[in-house]
Amino acid sequence: MEATCPICKGTGFVKKDGGVGLCECRFSQQDINKSLQIPKRFWDAELENYKFENQSETIAYTEALSYAANFDPAEGKGITFVGPPGVGKTHLAVGILKKIYRDKGIRGIFFDTKDLIYRLKSLIEERKTNRAIKAILNHPLIVLDDLGSERLSEWQRELISYIISYRYNNLKSTIITTNFSLTGEEKKSKKIRKVIGEDIELPKALLEERLGPSTVSRIYEMTDVVYIRGRDRRRV
Ligand SMILES: Nc1ncnc2c1ncn2[C@@H]1O[C@H](COP(=O)(O)OP(=O)(O)OP(=O)(O)O)[C@@H](O)[C@H]1O
Ligand SMILES: [Mg+2]
Repeated sequence: MEATCPICKGTGFVKKDGGVGLCECRFSQQDINKSLQIPKRFWDAELENYKFENQSETIAYTEALSYAANFDPAEGKGITFVGPPGVGKTHLAVGILKKIYRDKGIRGIFFDTKDLIYRLKSLIEERKTNRAIKAILNHPLIVLDDLGSERLSEWQRELISYIISYRYNNLKSTIITTNFSLTGEEKKSKKIRKVIGEDIELPKALLEERLGPSTVSRIYEMTDVVYIRGRDRRRV
């Protein structure tokens, strides 16, 4: 006889945040990670085990939590985490995907940006139907991890610009992580929702230089931008 889940009593549903969500028993840990295409290194990353030691990390955590809790695929709203290596940007992006999947049953997909552009390139070269490409571009929620992480060739830049404009035009939600400031002018910008504290030092390298102003302008509008400073947890 199959054991009945003590939490949902075998229904698969539980009360959550005033509504109904899927019970955790519906998803084994491994299934969730595979389903969301999370890289193995981040299989244990959850919002619940993200630790905050300073104000910017606390705000980043709060923003991540509220983004996941209020996620509505119809709005096409995203979130961008900017900061130096090892502060937990990818950890937060993964944690958000998992929470949205567990609580709302919406399956986001994690992409390393470089991987995604090579994947799309090969689909285009193999003359795979538009359907395969559109299925990726139209997905209601994706992570673009490490956006702009290396020098981009012209076709890579164009492809990223295409992905961003497509998602912008079609109100699709995108979670971005990047080591780069958007324009370098953020502290003056009224549009940036979260420049955290006066002491935050923006990364010197600019996404705008890598991707061009029109792509960055769309990122400004389609995502809330959260700046994180902190120690590199890979090192200390
Ligand atoms: N605040 C945190 N709480 C718990 N674990 C953390 C935190 N920050 C980072 N880590 C862990 O440290 C490692 C590095 O974090 P992560 O890869 O998310 O950093 P990142 O900001 O994405 O860095 P990069 O810019 O190099 O991609 C991961 O194993 C992650 O789970
Ligand atoms: Mg990362």
